[in-house]
Amino acid sequence: MMGVRVATGKALMILVAVSIICAGGGVVASPAAAEEVPLVPAVYVFGDSTMDVGNLGNFTPSPPYGVDLPLGIVPRFSNGYNMADSISRLLGFDMSPPAYLSLTPETSVEILKGLGGVNYASGGSGILDITHNADLPLSKQVEYFAATKAKMIENGTVDIDALLSKSLFLISDGGNDMFDFIFKGRSIFEFPSFHRDLLSNYTKYVQTLYGLGARRFGLIDVPPVGCVPMMRYILSKAGLDMCERVANGLAEGFNKKLSIEMAKLAHSLPGMRYSVGSSYKLVTNYTAHPEAAGFDDVKSACCGGGMFGMETLCVPDVTTCPNHDDHLFWDAVHCTQATSNKGAEAIFAAPVGLNFTAPINFKQLLLDDQPTPSAVNLLTS
Ligand SMILES: *[C@@H]1O[C@H](CO)[C@@H](O)[C@H](O)[C@H]1NC(C)=O
Ligand SMILES: *[C@@H]1O[C@H](CO)[C@@H](O)[C@H](O)[C@H]1NC(C)=O
Ligand SMILES: *[C@@H]1O[C@H](CO)[C@@H](O)[C@H](O)[C@H]1NC(C)=O
Ligand SMILES: *[C@@H]1O[C@H](CO)[C@@H](O)[C@H](O)[C@H]1NC(C)=O
Repeated sequence: MMGVRVATGKALMILVAVSIICAGGGVVASPAAAEEVPLVPAVYVFGDSTMDVGNLGNFTPSPPYGVDLPLGIVPRFSNGYNMADSISRLLGFDMSPPAYLSLTPETSVEILKGLGGVNYASGGSGILDITHNADLPLSKQVEYFAATKAKMIENGTVDIDALLSKSLFLISDGGNDMFDFIFKGRSIFEFPSFHRDLLSNYTKYVQTLYGLGARRFGLIDVPPVGCVPMMRYILSKAGLDMCERVANGLAEGFNKKLSIEMAKLAHSLPGMRYSVGSSYKLVTNYTAHPEAAGFDDVKSACCGGGMFGMETLCVPDVTTCPNHDDHLFWDAVHCTQATSNKGAEAIFAAPVGLNFTAPINFKQLLLDDQPTPSAVNLLTS
């Protein structure tokens, strides 16, 4: 459906394979300094490179990735913090909880008491196991959480279910599945069956987590994958300056169904509460009104050179844009820290009427104890 064979095609595929779009990653999940008490006992993070803080094993992003992070922090797929960090910071933590694969007995002490949490997200991960053949698809991440919980119990932690029920379960995944679909050249006639596979797997994992004690789900939907610099660059080869609409349609269709499926689940699982934060609507909003959002450039990668910052990839020694914060995108597919921070604030606290979250925002998800409202309305509308 589109000419992917650009000069940098191979490098791009590698980048895509380890990553995806605007969301998050971290290292130390201890409560922020001094007297700040986090809003929740712990955050458990699942997903892809938008959330990854070091679960990639032999591949870790290197500078200029992470240039704006404090010294000693594992680089994320961004210039600074990612969405998992930005949200964790709003909850009163220093950053995302640590990467599961980085844990040691010493760093696990609080975690086994149900405090702080763990980040299982991994770049390249998909909702489907077959996406990129990633090492750590969502299914495996959920298994790792089950292992963490088993260890908590074994460790003699009391009240573990009470702590888990108050903790945030943050999931941001699906972008890699979309890219996989697009780059395999699959047809739009396969949208419905693809969406069905994605959602049946996604809801299965949410149910598994619920069975393990999760009650508060903060979900981030799929961003407009057709608007990332990589896709704009591909279209520019055909003389077009726009987002790739088929890719966006694929993401938007998934997002709509995700809302419906979550409403159904919340209706059937007692005590389940959720909020869907819309990465799709945030990026669309920033793209439509860059100045209002404080961006100078919403189309190009800050890290990279040439057209859309895509002719030279984001590798060591490449030139980056002078002001990282004025770009929506850091590289071919990932957001800057500025985007994650702005997005997290909207998802956390913006009025629901702005449509960046539904049916409640993250603050309501974590502070109220009422059942998620309008879950039932959504079902009947
Ligand atoms: C709980 O875990 C900590 C840290 O891994 C360990 O030092 C401690 O011995 C464990 N306690 C029990 C009862 O297993
Ligand atoms: C999950 O996705 C696979 C395709 O990768 C599909 O065969 C399966 O039916 C989906 N649903 C569940 C619940 O496994
Ligand atoms: C973008 O969001 C702002 C609020 O942050 C809102 O005032 C504006 O109407 C939105 N624009 C679009 C196109 O969604
Ligand atoms: C939010 O969504 C509703 C329903 O789709 C729509 O009527 C309303 O105009 C939207 N609000 C904004 C600020 O875009």
